[in-house]
Amino acid sequence: MNKAKRAAVIAGNWKMNKTPAEAAALINEMKPLVKDADCKVVLCVPAIDIPAAVEAAKGSNIEIGAENVHFKESGAYTGEIAANMLVEAGVKYVVIGHSERRQYFGETDQTVNLRTLAAVKAGLTAIVCVGETLEQRELGYTETLLKFQTKMALTNVSASDLDKIIIAYEPVWAIGTGVTATAEQADEGNGYVREAIAEVYGKEVAETVTVQYGGSMNAKNADELVAKVNVDGGLIGGASLKAEDFSVIVKAASK
Ligand code: PGA
Repeated sequence: MNKAKRAAVIAGNWKMNKTPAEAAALINEMKPLVKDADCKVVLCVPAIDIPAAVEAAKGSNIEIGAENVHFKESGAYTGEIAANMLVEAGVKYVVIGHSERRQYFGETDQTVNLRTLAAVKAGLTAIVCVGETLEQRELGYTETLLKFQTKMALTNVSASDLDKIIIAYEPVWAIGTGVTATAEQADEGNGYVREAIAEVYGKEVAETVTVQYGGSMNAKNADELVAKVNVDGGLIGGASLKAEDFSVIVKAASK
C-alpha cells in the first residue's frame, strides 16, 4: 500500500442546504481557514448555488462540485442538468450515486454507471458513492456489495480515465446518524473498494485511485480515519456546513 501514489481529497457534500447568498458567505469564511491545505479541497453544492460558489471560490484552493449529473448530453429530461452545463459553470467534481439518491430518487447501479460515464467524458471528476446498509452488513454482505457496486459503477470506464474517478465508501448506517464507522471498519470497507478496482484494472492502477470515507466524519474523528492506509480523505456532510469543523478535517488530511 502506498498512500503517496494518490491524492487525499476532502469534499464537502452540502446536500439540500444553503441558498446562493449563504453559500458565498460560507465559502468566504472557509477560504482563509483552508488556504494552506496539503490536500484537495472540494465543496459539492446544490445546483442553484453553483454560480455563486464558483465566484466566491475564485482565486482560492477550493474547487466546486455538483451533487448529481444526468447521463444524456441534452434532451427532454425536465429538471435535469447535463455534464457540459456543469463544466461551463466552472464545476470540476460531481457526486454520483449518493445513498440518499439511491434511497429517495430511484438511483440504481446502472444509472450510477451511466452518470459516471457522462461525467468522465465531459472531464469532470466523479465522486462515486458506494455503501452497505446495516442489514446488509449484519447479513455479512459488506464485501460482496461494495465490490459489486464499485464494479458496476466503473463498467466501461477505461483505465486511463480512472484519474477522474474517486470512490467514496459511505456505510449507509453512518450517514447523518452521528454513528461513525470505526477507523478499522472504514479502512476495511475502503480496502474492499480498492480490491474491486484491482480485480478489474490490476493492483498497480488500484493503488493510484483515491478512495474516500464518508459518514459522520467530523472534526473529532477525522485524524484517526484519514490516518488509515486505505482512507484517502473524506466526503463530509454535516461537518462541511461549519467552516471551523471543515477546516479541522482539511488539516487532518494535510498531515
Ligand atoms: P454526514 O454525510 O457526514 O452528514 O454523515 C456524509 C454524506 O452523506 O456524504
